[in-house]
Amino acid sequence: MPTATALSAQLESIGQSALAKYIAGVQGDGADLLFNELQQFDLDDIAQYINTYGPSFQPTPPADTIAPAPYFALNDKSWDRVTYQKKGEELIAAGKVGCFTVAGGQGSRLGYEGPKGCYPTSCVTDKSLFEMFAQTIYANERKYNAIIPWYIMTSPLNHEQTVAFFESHAHFGLDPKNIKFFQQGVMPSFDASTGDLLLSDPAHLATNPDGHGGAYKALHVSGALEDMIARGVEHLSYFQVDNPNAKIIDPIFIGLHAHSPESSGEFSSKMVAKAHAHEKVGVFCRIGDTLSVVEYSDLPQELAEMTNESDELMFNAGSIAIHAISIAFINKIATDPSYALPFHRAVKKVAHFDPATGLHVDPPEPNAIKLEQFVFDAIALADRSIVVETDRVEEFAPVKNSTGPDSIETSKQLQSQRAANWLAANGVTIPTNTDGSVNAAIELSPLTALCNDDLKGQDLPESIEPGASIQL
Ligand code: UD1
Repeated sequence: MPTATALSAQLESIGQSALAKYIAGVQGDGADLLFNELQQFDLDDIAQYINTYGPSFQPTPPADTIAPAPYFALNDKSWDRVTYQKKGEELIAAGKVGCFTVAGGQGSRLGYEGPKGCYPTSCVTDKSLFEMFAQTIYANERKYNAIIPWYIMTSPLNHEQTVAFFESHAHFGLDPKNIKFFQQGVMPSFDASTGDLLLSDPAHLATNPDGHGGAYKALHVSGALEDMIARGVEHLSYFQVDNPNAKIIDPIFIGLHAHSPESSGEFSSKMVAKAHAHEKVGVFCRIGDTLSVVEYSDLPQELAEMTNESDELMFNAGSIAIHAISIAFINKIATDPSYALPFHRAVKKVAHFDPATGLHVDPPEPNAIKLEQFVFDAIALADRSIVVETDRVEEFAPVKNSTGPDSIETSKQLQSQRAANWLAANGVTIPTNTDGSVNAAIELSPLTALCNDDLKGQDLPESIEPGASIQL
C-alpha cells in the first residue's frame, strides 16, 4: 500500500485536492479502508472520466442519421425457423449454451427491500423470480439432457442476500456446481459542480454499481468466463431479473444468432413492437451504419412519435433486454481496450461526508454524477448484429414498478394470459373479460410446460371457471 504522502500526492496530481488533503491527515482503521478502496481504481482513468463527464461535460449532439433498425419480423415467413431451431437445439444439447441473469440493480422503483429476484411474482403460488428461472432451467436441462450453467450477476448491494436466498431454498433443485454468482463492480460518484470524489462516510468512498455493462469486466475478473470456456460454453442467453416470461432458452433465437448469415454470432437481440410511443423501453435504431439501442430517455420525442403511412410507429422496435452473446465476444469486450464501452451519466442526489468541514451533507437537489455502462452498447462493436421480433405476451411481463405499468399486477395478468393462450391452443376453454383478457389467474409451472406444444397429450381441464385461481 502506498504511504499517505504518496497517495495524497497522486490525488493532488489528478486534481483531487480536497481528498488529497484529507488523506494526508487521516489515521487509523478508517485510513486503511479508504486506502484500500482507492487502490481498486486506476486513478488516472478516474481523472479522465471526471474530465469527460464532470463539470465540463459536453453532451454528444443527437445523431442526424438515425433510422429504424431492420429486424426478423414475427410474421415474415421467409426465414427458415425449422432449420434454425434444429441448429439451436444442437448447441443446447451439446452443452454450448449457458444462462446469464443481470440482477445487480437496486429495484428502487418496485419499493422492495430485498434483491428483486426474491420478489414473489408467479400468479398463484407467489414463486420468486429466481425460482421461476431455476425451474425453467431445470426443465430445459431435462428436455435437452444437457447441463445449462447459470451465471448470476449481483452487486455489492445485494450479493450476500442473493446467495443466501439460493442456499436457503436448496438452489431450487439445481446443482449448485452449475450456478455461479459474481459481483459487478462499482464506480466512484463525484460532485457535479467541482468534480471532487465524494466520501459516503469518513472511511469510505461514495460509489454506485457500474451498470449492467460492468458485466463484461466482472465476468472476466470473477473467473466466470474461464469457467464457461472450461465447460465448452460458446454462447450465453442473457436476460434481466425482472421478466418472468423471458424465454430464457430459445433454440430458434440461439440458432439464428449463431448461424444466420446476417449475424456474426457475437451479439443478438429480441424486440417487441412498442405498445405506444412513450413506452419505457429502449429502441433498436440504425445510427449511420451501426445498430444501437437508444434508451427511452434519450429518444427525441418527435422520433418516438413519428409514424409511417400505415400510422404505425416508425421507431417501434422495443428492446425487451433479451440477448444472445458469444463467449469470444465477451472476452474481447472485457480484455481489449479498443473495445471499451462508453459511460452513461446521471445526476443524482448523493448524501456524503464533507472532508473539509467534517460534516455530513444531505443535498436538497441532485449534486453528484453517477457513471454506468450498458451491456447493449456492445452491439455497436459487433461485426453484424441481428434483432428478432417476438410476441409481447409470450416473452415480456416485466416487474419494475409497485403500481401502474410494468407492475406486479400487469405482470401477473400477462403471465396468466400466456398460460391461457397455451391452454386454449390445446383445447381448454378460457373465461374472458369483455375486453378479451383472461378472467382467471392461471399459473403454468415451467416443469409442466415450456411452450404450448409441451401441453399436448397432458391431462388438462376442459374449461376454467371465470375468476378461478389455478395452477398446473
Ligand atoms: C431496461 C433497459 C431498456 C429495456 C428495458 C426492458 C437499461 C439501461 N435499459 O430498462 O432498454 O427496454 O429494460 O425491460 O437497461 N442491473 C444490474 N446492474 C446495474 C443496473 C441494472 O444488474 O448496475 C440490472 C437490473 O437488476 C435489471 C436490469 O439490469 O435486471 C435492468 O435495469 P433497469 O435499470 O431496471 O432498466 P430499465 O429502466 O428497466
